[in-house]
Amino acid sequence: MAITIMPVTPQFVAEVGDVDLTRPIPDGDFAEIQAAFWKYSVLVFPDQDITPEQHLAFAGRFGPIENERTLDPKATPTRFAGAFSDISNLTAEGQIWGETSRQRMYKAGNKLWHTDSSFKRLPSLTSLLHARTVVPLGGHTEFADERAAYDALPQAMKDKLEGLVAEHWIGTSRLRTGFSEFNEDERRRLPPVPQMLVRTIPQSGRKALFLASHAGRILGFPDDEGRLLIDQLIAHCTQRQFVYTHRWRPNELVMWDNRCTMHRGTDFDDLRWVRDMRRVTVSDVANSCEQAGVTVAAA
Ligand code: OGA
Ligand code: MN
Repeated sequence: MAITIMPVTPQFVAEVGDVDLTRPIPDGDFAEIQAAFWKYSVLVFPDQDITPEQHLAFAGRFGPIENERTLDPKATPTRFAGAFSDISNLTAEGQIWGETSRQRMYKAGNKLWHTDSSFKRLPSLTSLLHARTVVPLGGHTEFADERAAYDALPQAMKDKLEGLVAEHWIGTSRLRTGFSEFNEDERRRLPPVPQMLVRTIPQSGRKALFLASHAGRILGFPDDEGRLLIDQLIAHCTQRQFVYTHRWRPNELVMWDNRCTMHRGTDFDDLRWVRDMRRVTVSDVANSCEQAGVTVAAA
């Protein structure tokens, strides 16, 4: 049976049915999933009771898996190592985290509009987030369409943004939520990196803003002017006509295109309810400046 694609809007977000991620996906079905992904940028797969191995196998069809944890696992142990990011409110031992835990302070940054791994020189193509346990109140994930937001910009702004490069650094988003205690290892591994402010997505040919709470400066601009422009563009992109709010059901898998969407987690009572989500992140093919043929001196 062929897969079924049910769009949420004509160009952004689709639900995918008649697919079983516990089994290898036939090439024809995978090609349809891929085509839907390039078109809608966010795909929702309801009712997928997958194992970590099956999650990884599906993600791996989109490209190489990111393997390095952002935080030093010695300073912040989590339930998983390697390819899995623990997007839960649980400690390495599986208990609800404490109010002042390092993980909780760090993950508060997920409530800011961001895209995953833009603070890495090689950013991410897509993240695949699987929900095991969801919460009864709040804990949604919002997604913003940066292609539609780009299309809606006045021509003068499009001209101004052409060719601009922003500096992305994990410290920029984390300082905003009060997390400043990166250790030596983390500082060394995570220096600021350049990324294009506007990208062209090869598979759709569409242009998109490439923003995140990690973006702090625009190269060639005074710091305050760059900051202001980034804040203004994030506010533009996250107007309600560009935003979809995902309300999670258990065993749902959602994947999004990190090149042309932003997302954020909404609040929930994280000291009361267990929210158990696991993420696998797939790398892009190259840094966004390299892909655009723009040469930037190492930051
Ligand atoms: C993520 C993320 C937000 C959420 O998994 O990358 O930002 O709602 N998640 O958990
Ligand atoms: Mn994220």
